[in-house]
Amino acid sequence: MTPEFAQDLKASVRAIPDYPKPGIIFRDITTLLGEPRAFRRAIDELVQSWAGSKIDKVAGIEARGFIIGGAIAHQVSSGFVPIRKKGKLPHTCVSMEYALEYGTDKIEVHVDAITPGERVILVDDLIATGGTAEGAIKLLRQIGAEVVAACFVIDLPELGGAAKIRAMGVPVRTLVAFE
Ligand code: PRP
Ligand code: ADE
Repeated sequence: MTPEFAQDLKASVRAIPDYPKPGIIFRDITTLLGEPRAFRRAIDELVQSWAGSKIDKVAGIEARGFIIGGAIAHQVSSGFVPIRKKGKLPHTCVSMEYALEYGTDKIEVHVDAITPGERVILVDDLIATGGTAEGAIKLLRQIGAEVVAACFVIDLPELGGAAKIRAMGVPVRTLVAFE
């Protein structure tokens, strides 16, 4: 990625102070998604990271991971697996509790979403503490996936999420970082 594009991409993410609570700067990717060039190039950059390797499925985390993950799955001609918040998927699921900044929540995936041994890439818009991605990787491994990489448009490195996912043995690719 050229430094110019990295800068453009970063500038296309809107900062919303004090959302959803005081003290949090929310990194809003709807502005990036609304710029055709930024959206296409962000997807192209992420896809390039594993050019040439076989990917069976892209797993996207609700909600913004569906947008990024769907575009990546189309580009690499793989299937798409939605990882959803509890109670949303219609068929039999496996669930995983994951850590939030305060408390816990549950994510779910259909029990038959992966054929054991399939090579899967996990996708979300942003990684912060890594609690959500960690839960998603555990869930995918539980149904037999080989999680070959995790990718995110935005990294908040001070919160340690990317390091946590690498420590699980999963390579991480991110495009822009906000301190
Ligand atoms: C955001 C983001 C990631 C998660 C990252 O989703 O899209 O999924 O937070 O945080 P973490 O690394 O600390 O786990 P959010 O929980 O806001 O849910 P939403 O997509 O339903 O709005
Ligand atoms: N998820 C966790 N922290 C976030 C932030 N600062 N902006 C957007 N999504 C987030």
